[in-house]
Amino acid sequence: MLELKGLHYRPSTSEKPVLQGVDLKVHACQPVVVAGASGSGKTTLLEVISGLASPQQGTICWESEPLKQRQRRGMCGVVFQFPERHFLGLTVAQELRLGHRRITTETQERALKKVGLSQVDLRQAPERLSGGQQRRLALAVQLLRKPAILLLDEPTAGLDWSVRDDILELLTQLARDQLLIVATHEPELFQSWSSAAYRLNSGQLHAMSRLT
Ligand SMILES: Nc1ncnc2c1ncn2[C@@H]1O[C@H](COP(=O)(O)OP(=O)(O)O)[C@@H](O)[C@H]1O
Ligand SMILES: [Mg+2]
Repeated sequence: MLELKGLHYRPSTSEKPVLQGVDLKVHACQPVVVAGASGSGKTTLLEVISGLASPQQGTICWESEPLKQRQRRGMCGVVFQFPERHFLGLTVAQELRLGHRRITTETQERALKKVGLSQVDLRQAPERLSGGQQRRLALAVQLLRKPAILLLDEPTAGLDWSVRDDILELLTQLARDQLLIVATHEPELFQSWSSAAYRLNSGQLHAMSRLT
């Protein structure tokens, strides 16, 4: 279980704090949706959880043990908003090999299968994939790191509705054996998830009874 206790965070370049007492408990296989208006701090929260930023106050625990920033970096897989804008590989294989120099073709193919891309050629250029396929590839890259905690920032943003449904189905599948937190400004899309949902407002998380 991941537990956030009393997180306070103010970026060094900001006058105002972004997180002001964030508490949250997340269990594996029970995905959590964090909703909130633009600028409410959703991305910042994911940065703090994943160890890209360090809170000034509060603790982040895994199975009741406090985690250091370095440990969080190792445990978290993050797919940021519009990940396809940051592909570096010239081919799908190269993209999957970043950070995994000795990865075998078999492992690459297994990673693609897990995200529903088994039909994609490893030699293909990532930018030639469709929008939905690119999102899937970005997910596969993170899944290769076998993250204990998977954090997705606006995974449905900028996709047309039919592709969004496919991505939602994939996320539902992944959430079955993965601790997953999704930050989104369109929580209504996640209504079929019976899991917990929270709204980030004034730097704090409030439980939502309905995802609208
Ligand atoms: N490094 C930073 N320096 C200054 N302000 C920041 C920084 N990071 C985030 N902020 C501010 O924190 C607030 C929350 O931003 P963000 O986490 O991107 O919100 P969201 O993802 O919900 O749209 C915004 O007002 C933003 O301007
Ligand atoms: Mg954001």
